[in-house]
Amino acid sequence: MLPRRTPVISRPPVVLRAFRDSDAALIQSVAADPLIPLITSVPASGSRADALAFIGRQHRRLSAGQGYSFAVTEADSGTPVGQIGLWLRDADHGRASVGYWIAAPHRRRGYTTAALDAISRWGLALDGIDRLELYVEPWNEGSWRAAERAGYHREGLLRRWQYVGPERRDMYMYSLFPDDLLVIASPV
Ligand SMILES: CC(C)(COP(=O)(O)OP(=O)(O)OC[C@H]1O[C@@H](n2cnc3c(N)ncnc32)[C@H](O)[C@@H]1OP(=O)(O)O)[C@@H](O)C(=O)NCCC(=O)NCCS
Repeated sequence: MLPRRTPVISRPPVVLRAFRDSDAALIQSVAADPLIPLITSVPASGSRADALAFIGRQHRRLSAGQGYSFAVTEADSGTPVGQIGLWLRDADHGRASVGYWIAAPHRRRGYTTAALDAISRWGLALDGIDRLELYVEPWNEGSWRAAERAGYHREGLLRRWQYVGPERRDMYMYSLFPDDLLVIASPV
C-alpha cells in the first residue's frame, strides 16, 4: 500500500515537503528558465494564477495515483528552491521515475544531489517499487553528476527519446536499485 500523503523528508541541506500556495513565487520565478517549462508543467506565463493552478495540480497527482510531487526547500531557512517528483506510471512493473529542477539562484549548492538521495531512498522503500529511473540529456552535466552522486548508473543513450519543445532529444537513461545504495558513500 503506497502512502496517501506526501511526507516531509529531512535530508540536510534540504527538506522535501508537499507544495503550499506560498510557493507560488518560486513557480513564477522559473517561468523564463530556458528548460524548466519545457520539461515540466510549470507555466511559462509567470502569472500568479497559473502558478497556483500548478500547485493545485501537484496535490491532485497524489490523489490520482500519478506520484508524489515535493517542493525542495532549504533546511536552514525553509526557503522553497525547486521541485522533485517520484512518478508512478510504471508502478505495476515495480518501476518509478524521478524528475527535478532547482531555481537558478540556488544551483550548485548540492541541493539536487541531496534531494535525489532523499527521494530515492524513500522511493525504493515503498511497497512494490524496486527500480528507479531518470532521463538526462547528455549536455546536462549538473543533472547527471547529481544522479551519479546519488548512486544511479548510466545504462545507455536513448536516441531521440523524447520531445523537448519542438525537437526530439537524446537522453541518457539512469537507474537505481536498492543494492546500489549499499555501495555509495553518503553524498553531500
Ligand atoms: C540540473 C540541475 C537540477 C542541477 O541542480 P543543482 O542543485 O545545481 O545540482 P548540485 O548542486 O547537486 O550539483 C551536482 C553536481 O553537478 C555539478 N554541476 C551543477 N551544475 C553544473 C553545471 N551547469 N555544469 C557542470 N557541472 C554542474 C556540481 O558541481 C556537482 O558536482 P560534484 O558532485 O562533482 O560536486 C539544475 O541545474 C536545474 O534545475 N537545471 C534546469 C532543469 C533541469 O535540467 N532538470 C533536470 C532535467 S534531467
